[in-house]
Parts: sequence; structure tokens; C-alpha cells
Amino acid sequence: MENLIDTQTRGPLGIIRMQRAPVNALGHALRGAISEAHRGFEADPAIRATVLTGNGKFFSAGADITEFDTGRKKPYLTDLIARLEEGTKPVVVIINGIAYGGGFELALGCDYIYLLPQARLAFPEINLGNIPGAGGTQKLPRLIGGPKALDIILTGTPIDASRALELGIAETIVSDEEEALARITQTVEAGLPRRPVRDLTVPGSADELETAAEPHLRRSRGAMAVLKGVEAVRMSYSAPIDEALAWERDTFHELNASSEARAQRHIFFAERSARKIADVPADTPLRPMESAGIIGAGTMGTGIAMCFANAGIPVRVIEQEQERLDHGLARIRQTYETMRDRGRISAEEAQARAGLVTGSVDLAAVANADIVVEAVFEAMDVKHEVFAKLDAVCKPGAILATNTSTLDIDKIAEATSRPRDVIGLHFFSPAHIMKLVEVVRARKTAKDVIATSMALGQRIGKIPVLVGVCDGFAGNRMFINFNREAQILIEEGALPWQVDKVFTDWGLAMGPLSVMDLAGLDVGYRIRQARGSQTPYPFTTADRLAESGRYGQKTGRGWYLYPEGARRGVPDPEVEKLIEDVSREKGIRRRPVTDEEILRRCLWQLVNTGYQIVEEGIAQRTGDLDVIFVNGYGWPRTRGGPMFYARETGLAQVAADVTRFHEEIGPHWKPSALLLEEAKAAGA
Ligand code: COA
Repeated sequence: MENLIDTQTRGPLGIIRMQRAPVNALGHALRGAISEAHRGFEADPAIRATVLTGNGKFFSAGADITEFDTGRKKPYLTDLIARLEEGTKPVVVIINGIAYGGGFELALGCDYIYLLPQARLAFPEINLGNIPGAGGTQKLPRLIGGPKALDIILTGTPIDASRALELGIAETIVSDEEEALARITQTVEAGLPRRPVRDLTVPGSADELETAAEPHLRRSRGAMAVLKGVEAVRMSYSAPIDEALAWERDTFHELNASSEARAQRHIFFAERSARKIADVPADTPLRPMESAGIIGAGTMGTGIAMCFANAGIPVRVIEQEQERLDHGLARIRQTYETMRDRGRISAEEAQARAGLVTGSVDLAAVANADIVVEAVFEAMDVKHEVFAKLDAVCKPGAILATNTSTLDIDKIAEATSRPRDVIGLHFFSPAHIMKLVEVVRARKTAKDVIATSMALGQRIGKIPVLVGVCDGFAGNRMFINFNREAQILIEEGALPWQVDKVFTDWGLAMGPLSVMDLAGLDVGYRIRQARGSQTPYPFTTADRLAESGRYGQKTGRGWYLYPEGARRGVPDPEVEKLIEDVSREKGIRRRPVTDEEILRRCLWQLVNTGYQIVEEGIAQRTGDLDVIFVNGYGWPRTRGGPMFYARETGLAQVAADVTRFHEEIGPHWKPSALLLEEAKAAGA
């Protein structure tokens, strides 16, 4: 078994170094090893203080999240910290890198904190639907006051070494471990006293906390972890520490067992699994990635260009006409200026990023780019023309990517003599903001092109998910079927505002009809017209709305009315009448449709389609589809994505519903064989 810690003595110091790959997660065995080593140093008369540190990039990423679902064993982290606090000799930590969650709490259980410049501290528990559970909510306020501690606990945002020093979390920043050990030795030899953080009193008054808590509570939309986080920090002012620590620990376990927390843990691991590709080894050599070209200076093209510039990669944007190019480049500059004005980036940063984007009306200007991303008009002949030209001008080995969301990438690749270098990078709009990128592997795409594209996705701050070529790839294929079911339900008897409310109550920021109004009903209409009979179910009502000029928010009328530029729509009796007309024409007798039926039918359409996608090998695993919905379609992490939700509901139930809908509603409900198989396995 690997050695989870390394221990050494050096003068009066006993040093414990955590070294559990990959991130020093504080699993059971590591907790035990630290506790044991500390006991040894306590007993050794030659040792006057213990030093605790990590290795490589990590002090510790915190509690071992895998243990949350598999049960925990003593010594718990709280036991380990209590032992350090009960000792007779001071414990000094040197935070050498990431100290998150339980790692940060371990440090707060010690007497003094030294930081190396690369230290980063955070309580990311809130992103997992929880609060710190090993003293963080009580000890951080004692060091830096309630309001600042609350911000750290409720945002999960990491703070760097200089901020941590400024806040008063640490004694000092030292340039390296050697310097830290020399300084600690000096202070120990001068008689460093014990100073457990738990014995300090919270500075300031509890009233300040209430003011600081107000915006968090307002934005929380009732999220339990936020409410409990505020309550915990409130207790740090008034409750005896042992009572508060016991409450914090119980609350942590209670929240951990909630479906919200389980869902968020699922997404955490699903996002990491999504990076792994069965037939592309993790050590596949990557192609160089130092410069990029973008073809097309429209909304998508400029958004994608900013993704590269944000990551420090120089990017050249190509457009056919100078005026359109100037317009696109101006939009990029404008976006950076707005970010600067809102304080999101510094003036220097805004200037540097804008400076990385250049433009040209000559396609040959991307001849030396390591990657070119095409974002031109969605038509196969246009794409063919662009790819044939790229084939002629780009250097050998350049990755030729398309941002198509609807076209067959195998066919696009045929326009080149190098289909191995062609791949899809399907960004979601607005491209510089949305996290998801579907990396679409075509039949002939080379493995190193896939590996490089996945690595690039991460480098530009996105969450890349690998999918294969099919109509709509993974996300849109599922989402279109979800929308189609909403259309059918409306023809059967539901109303748009009922459907939307079902989904906003469930946790979506907007219902599907409001989303259509925001995106523009003309967009889907044009796609459906271009496809003609290939659309499996006519979106008759949506088409009628578009044909009467009701494009949604931009025309003030769509599924809803938007009086005087309002962003929230109000129900419109005219739309209700139009819907009733469509039902009558189709010979459908309208009936009351329950909220439960709306929820199940729309969601199970997504889920059944998702299983088909995995069955066909278009996506590698169902978790990847959850990652797609959470990061590309704004679905709440607290629900864990549609596939996770189906598993939580029970796959046997889902399969039974889908089978019944298939019999009662129509062929578009044909159950996926994989769903039936997994439902059977889950029930066995
Ligand atoms: N417990 C268990 N496993 C963990 C973990 C934790 N706290 N933190 C990370 N891991 C695992 C990841 O699942 C991944 O495993 P894999 O290689 O098998 O997929 C591996 O460690 C590396 O993590 P990854 O996120 O890919 O590395 P990174 O360098 O990009 O990021 C962190 C490192 C620490 C920033 C990031 O993993 C993180 O935020 N971890 C969660 C920290 C947290 O929430 N702690 C509080 C727990 S209550």
C-alpha cells in the first residue's frame, strides 16, 4: 500500500507530509495516519511542535467525497481535528497549494497557518449542497469575523495567499517550504505558545452578520445549504463552541443525505468522468495549441474568439467583408469594456484580451493557426466551400473544427483531403459564457485530434463532453424531443403557461415555451421549413405563431405577450384560441392534462432519447448527458440532470411509463433497449 504520509524530524519539529494521490483527499486511512503520527510527536520529548503540510499542488482537497455515499469510519475528520486541538504542543500548517473544504478545516484546527504563494483556500461544500462540517463555520468567523467568513462559505470561491493573509487567516506568506521551516523553528525555539482557533472570540457584532446574510438569502431561492450556512455562522457569535460544532456536524450529515446534495455529488464526478474516453488513452500526445483562427464574425464566431482570448491564445477572426469584420471586432472590444466597467476584469486584462484578437478578410491569414473553428452560415454548401479552402491554406496538422449544430460532420469532412483533422466543436450561445462544448467526433477523426480538443476545451474554461455524429448530436436531439412532447401536450389540452410553470416549479429557470420566446420562434420555424417532412411531429402551433409574426420577446408577442418590452410574458387569450383551433383541426378532443403528466412525459422523452443516444454509442455514458444539460441548458445542478433524476425516480417506473406511452401515444415513444435493460437490472 502507498505511504499516505511521510514523517520526518528536523530540530524541534516533527513534520507530517500528506501524500495521498491524487489530491490528498482526507479518506479514512489518511486521517488515521495523521492522527497516529501526531500522537508519536506528542510523545517524543525531543519534538516541540508538529508541522503539517501536503505535497505537489495539494495541501488537501478536503473530505473524500467518495466516502459520502459509502459510509464513514472512525476516526472522523472531526475526531482528528479534536486530537490536534487537545495536544500539548503547537501544530503549525504550511499550506503549499490547494486547501479546500476539510483540508481548510484541518488547517483551522491547528494553531498557526503559514502560506506558500501558490496556496488557495476555499469551502466548496456549497457547490455540493452542503456547508463545512468539521468546524469551518465556527472557526473561520473567529479568525476573520462573521460577514467575511459567510462570503467564503456561501460562495465557494477560492481565495489566494495574499487575500488570505489580508483577511487575517494566516500568519505570513513565505517563499518556500525551506523558509517556512526555518521561521517556524525560530518561533518554536523562542517558546511558541499554543493558540487553538477554537479558543478565540468572534470579532464584531452579530448585527453585521445579518446585513451580510441578506443578499445571500435573497438569491438562495430557498436552497437549504444557504439557510443552514447562515444559521451556523450566526451560532458562532452566541453558542458555546462544542454545542455549535455538534450542530454543524449533524447538519452536515443531514444535508449530505438530501437529494440535492446527492445530485450535486453526481454532477461533480460526472464532470470528471466525462473527460475520460474509452479508446483515447489519457497520455495521448497532444497537438500544439498556440494560435487559433475563427471563420465568421457573427455572434457565435466572436463569442468563440473570446473564449480563446480569455485563455491567452491569440486568435484571428476571418470575415468576407470588411464592414462585417469591423462590426464583429467592435462587439468583442465592447464586451471586454463592459466586463471591465462592471469590475469583472481589470483594465489591463480587458486590453490584453482584446489585443489578442485580430481580424482579416483573407482566409489565408489562418494558414499558420494550430486550430481553425468555422462558425459560418448553417448550410452544407457553404460549409463545403469553407472547408475546401481551409484544406488548401492550413498548415499540415492543424485541427479543422466546425461549430455546426445541425449538419453532418462526416459530410463536412469530405470537402477536405484530411478528414482525420476534422472535428466538431459545438459551443452553446452565448459562447463566451456557456460552459458546455460538445466535442463531436466524426467517423475519421484522429484520436490525437479528439484528445487535443478535449484538453483545449478545459484550457479555455469549458466543460467538454465527447459525442458522436447524429441529428442534433446529444443535447439538441434530446431537447428537441422534450419540446416536441410539450407541443403535443398543448394540442391535447395543456396551455403554455401551465407547461412552463410545471418546469419552473421543478427547478428550471425558464419553461420551454418561454425559452422559445427568448430564442425567437422564427429560428426553429426556419429550421423546420428547411427540413420539411423530416421533422417527426409538426410543431403546428409554433409554426402558426411564427407565420403571424409572433417571434417571441423581440416582437413583443410569441407564446406570451410582452407588453412594452417586458421580459416576463403574460398569457394571451389569442394564443389560447389559436391552440384550440389547432386541436380542433387535428380532431383532438381537448382534455385536462395534469401537471404530473406534463412532467413525466416531457422528462421521460429526454431520458428515453438519452438512453437511445448511449445505446447507439453517440455518448459514452448517461452521466455525460447530465453534464450536458447542467452546463449547456441551464438545468439546476440540484436535480443532477435528467438521467440522474430518472434513476432517482426509479428506472423501473420510468420504463413502465415509457412502455405505456408507447402503446397509448405513438411510435415516438419506442422504449430504448438500454433503458429496459437497465430498468430490469435495477429492479433485480
Ligand atoms: N474526494 C474524492 N475525490 C476527489 C476529491 C475529493 N474531495 N477531489 C478531487 N477528487 C478526485 C477527482 O474525482 C479526480 O478523480 P479521477 O482522476 O478519478 O477522475 C481526481 O481527484 C482529480 O481531481 P480533478 O478535479 O480532476 O483535478 P483538478 O486538479 O482539476 O482539481 C480540485 C482539483 C481539488 C480543485 C477539484 O478536484 C475539486 O474542487 N475537488 C473538490 C473539493 C471539494 O469539494 N472538497 C470539499 C469536500 S466536502
